[in-house]
Amino acid sequence: MLTCDITSIQSLTSLAECIRTLAQPGDIFLLEGDLGAGKTTFVKVLASLCGIDPREVTSPTFGLVHRYLSGSPGMGSPDPEDMAQRFVLVHADLYRLGPGADIYDTGIQELMDEADLVAVEWAEYLQDGVVTHGLRLRFHLDFTGETDETGIRQVEIIPVGDRWTRQMRALQECIEKSHGLKNNP
Ligand SMILES: Nc1ncnc2c1ncn2[C@@H]1O[C@H](COP(=O)(O)OP(=O)(O)O)[C@@H](O)[C@H]1O
Ligand SMILES: [Mg+2]
Repeated sequence: MLTCDITSIQSLTSLAECIRTLAQPGDIFLLEGDLGAGKTTFVKVLASLCGIDPREVTSPTFGLVHRYLSGSPGMGSPDPEDMAQRFVLVHADLYRLGPGADIYDTGIQELMDEADLVAVEWAEYLQDGVVTHGLRLRFHLDFTGETDETGIRQVEIIPVGDRWTRQMRALQECIEKSHGLKNNP
């Protein structure tokens, strides 16, 4: 497990860049932590690194799942060849499902199967064993400043599956090299 201090959007972006570089299609990011901890903000930053307009990214608390495509949306019916070039990010929020969420009932699984990357908020509600490769990111908001933006955040990074377990050293090196990111041994 790695622990990393997040003191700004810039340091969150550095972390997301390190993760994005090591990610492979089909990876799932399990985002945990209380309301306001920074889960949706991580998805916005990740989306923009994938060529998706971050303004499209909102917490799908009521919709359960969103699917974002890179590039500007085509007018009229999309050209299938153009669609194939696009990056697909699926963003789920299990808050409304509650503990022991059965995602097989929700249609999220089908969307996940066709995504390049998947981010799941309130992943603590997911049953064990659904996710076999990705990262668990546990966000903690330790101190609320005058505004949320001035709060102090920490994220614990826990690998899921063999590949991410093997990549943790590379992730740690990237975090240590990144400006404004502090890894706590
Ligand atoms: N790393 C960060 N640096 C500065 N502000 C942040 C950071 N992460 C989140 N915030 C701010 O905190 C608030 C809540 O974040 P959000 O991502 O919506 O939390 P969650 O999805 O966990 O409920 C937002 O106003 C956001 O701008
Ligand atoms: Mg959220």
